[in-house]
Order: sequence, then C-alpha cells, then structure tokens
Amino acid sequence: MRDAWVITIDGPAGVGKSTVARMLSERLGAVFLDTGAMYRTVTAAAMDKGVDLEDVEALLSLIDSTAFRFEHDGPVLRTRADGKDYTQRIREPEVTENVRHVACQGPLRGRLVRMQQDFANRFSKVVTEGRDQGTVVFPDAKWKFFLEADPEERARRRQKDFAAAGKAVALEELKKHILSRDASDINRSVGPLAAAADAIHIDTTRVDAEGVVEIMIRRIEETKNGGH
Ligand code: DC
Repeated sequence: MRDAWVITIDGPAGVGKSTVARMLSERLGAVFLDTGAMYRTVTAAAMDKGVDLEDVEALLSLIDSTAFRFEHDGPVLRTRADGKDYTQRIREPEVTENVRHVACQGPLRGRLVRMQQDFANRFSKVVTEGRDQGTVVFPDAKWKFFLEADPEERARRRQKDFAAAGKAVALEELKKHILSRDASDINRSVGPLAAAADAIHIDTTRVDAEGVVEIMIRRIEETKNGGH
C-alpha cells in the first residue's frame, strides 16, 4: 500500500503511552494497536488453562493451539482467545503481575511480534505502543516516539487511575511496582524497553496527554514530506 505508515510509541509503564496513542490515532484517522493487551491476553489465557507460566515449551504450545483474535474497536483493542472475550479480564492485577513470564522469553516474544506485524498489515495507518515497537517490531516505522517521565509522576498517574476506579492505593506502593516493572522491562535480554536511535524523545513529566499529542503532531507535520 503506497500510503501506508506506522507510528511507534515506546516507553516505560505509566508514562501515558496508551492515552496518547489512542488520542493520536483518533486525530490521524489511524488504527490503535495496544501491544501490551496482546501480552496480557496470552498471559491470561495461559492462567485460565492452568499452564505453568515458567514452562516456555508449554506456553509456546498454548500460543500455537489457541485462536487469538485481536479486533480494532475504536480506542480499544478487543481481544479473544478461543472465542472468549478477554478485553476486561486482562486489566486485572494478577494478569499484570504475571505478564513478565511471557514478556521475558525470546521464543514467546517472537510469536507476539508476528501477531503485531500481522495486525498492522491489515490496516494502512497504525499507531502502535509498547516497549520494542520502534526497535524490533516496526524498525521501518515512519515516525518513532519514546516517552519518558519521572517515576514519582508515573506513580501519581496510576494512583489517579485507581482512584477513578474507586480504589485507594498508596503512592509508595505504586512507585515500587513501577520501578520493578522498569527493571524487568529494561533488563530482559530480548525485546527490552529501549529507544530506537531515530526515535523522538518526549519527557511527559510536566506535559499532559493533549500537550504530548500536540508535540507529536508538530513533529509529524515538520517531517511529513522528507522523513526525518
Ligand atoms: O503496556 P502494558 O502495561 O499493558 O504492558 C503489559 C506488559 O507487557 C508489560 O509488563 C511489558 C510487556 N510488554 C512488552 O514486553 N512488550 C510490548 N511491546 C508491550 C508490553
């Protein structure tokens, strides 16, 4: 497709990637790909089928024998495994806690990377977010962004999300979780959280989601005709 493009947004947990990716995709009339939702769905399906999350071979055969479906539904990636809808279930804390088992194994990541590329191939304009989108999954993406923010601010944002869902969680606890997820995202040997050499870095500590989207649109406009 001549006009097809992908925009990648990578960064650590709680930096605002999903909000920004959703808003940007809407502004640009593109499809939003939430790759974390894919990792979460594989994890939740394995948990529900009683698969040992430490057993890579068992996880591989689960992936190969399960019909995963990822459907674009406006701002949400609707996910299914063998017909069962996982869109809500994957947001549960026990899934968040276990997803690292899937995320840290090379052969499993290989399958997930293919799912992401297959999904993107179905659409002409895609905004994708994750940890390795600009480096591994879509190295030829037309625009790549890498978001950063202080851990303290990221914990505060998570706290607000929880408060909106009626849950009070201590800031210190959230910060601890965020730092431990950072460590596991950065230190894994395959598909680690990393900025592509040609990524545009945006510090979102003091900029809200609308502001970040504006910065992105500006950069996209500036480089529209000639690339970077
Ligand atoms: O963005 P999220 O919180 O929904 O991601 C869930 C987990 O999946 C997170 O712990 C890191 C992992 N992940 C990944 O390893 N690579 C991606 N492209 C997206 C998510």
